[in-house]
Amino acid sequence: MKISIRNLTKAFPSRVKKGAPVIAVNDMNIEIPSGKLVGLLGPSGCGKSTTLFMLSGLETPTSGQILFDEQDVTTLAPERRGIGLVFQNYSLYPHMTVEQNIMFPLTNMRIPKQEAKEKALDAARLVQIEDLLARKPSELSGGQQQRVAIARALVKMPNVLLLDEPLSNLDARLRLQTREEIKRIQRETGITTVFVTHDQEEAMSICDIMVVMKLGIVQQLGEPQAIYDDPANLFVANFLGTPPINIFKGRIEKGKAYIGDEAIRTVDLEDQEIFVGIRPEGFIYDPKGALTLDVDHIEVMGRDKSVVSRHTASTKPTVRSIIDSDIKLPADSGEMKFNLKPNKVFLFNSAEERIL
Ligand SMILES: Nc1ncnc2c1ncn2[C@@H]1O[C@H](COP(=O)(O)OP(=O)(O)OP(=O)(O)O)[C@@H](O)[C@H]1O
Ligand SMILES: [Mg+2]
Repeated sequence: MKISIRNLTKAFPSRVKKGAPVIAVNDMNIEIPSGKLVGLLGPSGCGKSTTLFMLSGLETPTSGQILFDEQDVTTLAPERRGIGLVFQNYSLYPHMTVEQNIMFPLTNMRIPKQEAKEKALDAARLVQIEDLLARKPSELSGGQQQRVAIARALVKMPNVLLLDEPLSNLDARLRLQTREEIKRIQRETGITTVFVTHDQEEAMSICDIMVVMKLGIVQQLGEPQAIYDDPANLFVANFLGTPPINIFKGRIEKGKAYIGDEAIRTVDLEDQEIFVGIRPEGFIYDPKGALTLDVDHIEVMGRDKSVVSRHTASTKPTVRSIIDSDIKLPADSGEMKFNLKPNKVFLFNSAEERIL
């Protein structure tokens, strides 16, 4: 099922008298192709959950439209949208067994018991909890409970699966494992899935398409790698990547981009103040290199090493570069020069929009 979101806006009235409303989602326009796993990504408060709630019908838009394929569902009740919903707190019924929990949406629809049991077993198999059907939620681990919640969302074979931070209560290992599971289940079922997260690594690793949001406004939509390689603005560049991108204050003067008094490249742009973003993997050690860093220390990480440096123009306390562990550096610390890989360097104007 394709999802089209058109001029979607949600304004919440201010909680203080005569205060300005909170624009949780601001004129959102996106198309989600059928059968894809789409990540809504952004910092806390950027409007991810509000968007998901409007898709589910639990929240009514202030203006705009939502279409599932060609059907306008903007004002359709949640139970008539054919959606499966999973929240961060799994909200299983504690007094019911796993099987009863999974069957619940079906019994609610008055589907005959035997058929409901079969469907519940299918859904349980899909998330690999078929051995746990007789247990109560309290007898399950967090990851198992989350799978039950996913099975319950899947049991009706929804057209659209909506997941709001489904992994945030899990520990790091289980998180990793469960996100792979979600990817597998999504591939196997082909259900159009919208996955909300504030964790860029999580989104990058499993999503076909990512929608990066900030303050209710979509910043960029695309394949994770494409956004990483070609960020639209400083916010997006900074939000994606571990370790994060290095950002320097710089300027363009007579066709050259400078960081401090070092020219890092020629550019065909007007003189102006800029921000220079350099991905950690963008540095090449070279005694004749363009950029001088004051190396503080080097962290060995096996395949790579992480060079932690300082630079007066850096907007962050340290500059992090990741270089191959085979590369020999002249010392453990002190001034060293680096060349930069052109495709790992981005220039932004003072309004933080990408200019190169
Ligand atoms: N019912 C509400 N009434 C008033 N303001 C609300 C309501 N729900 C959300 N908001 C506000 O709307 C904005 C977006 O909230 P939303 O829950 O969509 O963010 P989010 O991206 O899901 O954040 P998080 O990552 O913290 O879950 C926030 O500023 C929030 O305070
Ligand atoms: Mg949220």
